[in-house]
Amino acid sequence: MFFIRRSTFDVGRSMFFLLLSMIILGIDTSCDDTSAGVVVDGRSVLSSVVHSQVEVHHPHGGVVPELASREHIRNIVPVVEASLSRAGIQLKDLDGIAVTVGPGLVGALLVGLYYAKGLAYVSNIPLTAVNHLEGHILSIFLEEDPPPFPFIALTVSGGHTSIYHVQGYGRYVLMGQTLDDAAGEAFDKVAKISGLGYPGGVAIEKTAANGFGERIPFPRAYMDKDSLDFSFSGLKTAVALYMKKWRYNRERHQQEVTLADIAASFQESVVDVLVHKVMTARKRTGAPSVVMAGGVACNKRLRERLSSAAGDEGVQVYFPSPAYCTDNGAMIAVAGYHRLLQGKTADMSADVRSRYPIDCLRSEDRALGPEPLNL
Ligand code: KG4
Ligand code: ZN
Repeated sequence: MFFIRRSTFDVGRSMFFLLLSMIILGIDTSCDDTSAGVVVDGRSVLSSVVHSQVEVHHPHGGVVPELASREHIRNIVPVVEASLSRAGIQLKDLDGIAVTVGPGLVGALLVGLYYAKGLAYVSNIPLTAVNHLEGHILSIFLEEDPPPFPFIALTVSGGHTSIYHVQGYGRYVLMGQTLDDAAGEAFDKVAKISGLGYPGGVAIEKTAANGFGERIPFPRAYMDKDSLDFSFSGLKTAVALYMKKWRYNRERHQQEVTLADIAASFQESVVDVLVHKVMTARKRTGAPSVVMAGGVACNKRLRERLSSAAGDEGVQVYFPSPAYCTDNGAMIAVAGYHRLLQGKTADMSADVRSRYPIDCLRSEDRALGPEPLNL
């Protein structure tokens, strides 16, 4: 019965932790960060360790899947060991191990899954298989004051841009998603085109800080009037064409527009669409609050603009702290905790999934699936 801790640790911690609590180790190797976190009862973080591979991929201008897998193999053991030691616990103190099985890079995911399987098997600890997107949505529960259900979640990362109506743990209705590039992917590609390097999001944000966002009217793809879907590939092409002309003119010294203006105008275009769609989804459902998660949610301009739009409508807006926006094992531990509470364990046959739409969670468990939305 894993609701009761098998052993005690750190007697200085509150009595609450000594009895009815569950300590979960979360592991994520879905892309280019090797991460592990230890979380109590899906809320309190004891540790969160992330090993970034930026230096390895930087010379290539993006993530090289084969290199990512090799780096995960090199780092998974020290990262997990560091997460346990920083949490002040040992493997035997864990009540569950949660690991990302998708979506993500297959080779990278396999490293995390097989390591987690090995740990779970030799230590006889329950294992649960987590959807990375569910981890991002639930990362807000690592903060002190999380929102009540239901809420609208916008997940904006390097691989995904989606809007969900979140009705409870494991109950997510997809309302809109990108039909081509993800928002983070657009930041990364535009940074590459502009010579700002990798990773692109932070580089664009930094450069944009000195620019004028209204300078260039880059396109905003709102799609159909009622659509909550996104498309960022046209914007990326528009920036690429603009850059070509801009470089040509720069060589002839006929330049008023700066690189900072281009970065700021691109950023403004992405932010306009994201804020408009998420606020439309909010209005349509009547949900009292909005949560933004994923790497792009670190962007300060996006945070400002969403906070201001939400403030105008009297809506509460929630952001995880930047360390929990980008990929981390702690958010996987939160999702894993709720899966284990629902009895959803994985066995040694669990496999990875490069594509893993969150709707699959509904078909995996009809009893706990979300209510259909009648909008
Ligand atoms: O969630 P995440 O760490 O990994 C994925 O699941 O993809 O997100 C990484 C993405 C990258 O595309 C990165 O450029 C973007 O998040 N990103 C940002 C910022 N920080 C990270 N995009 C815009 N502004 C930022 N400050
Ligand atoms: Zn992610």
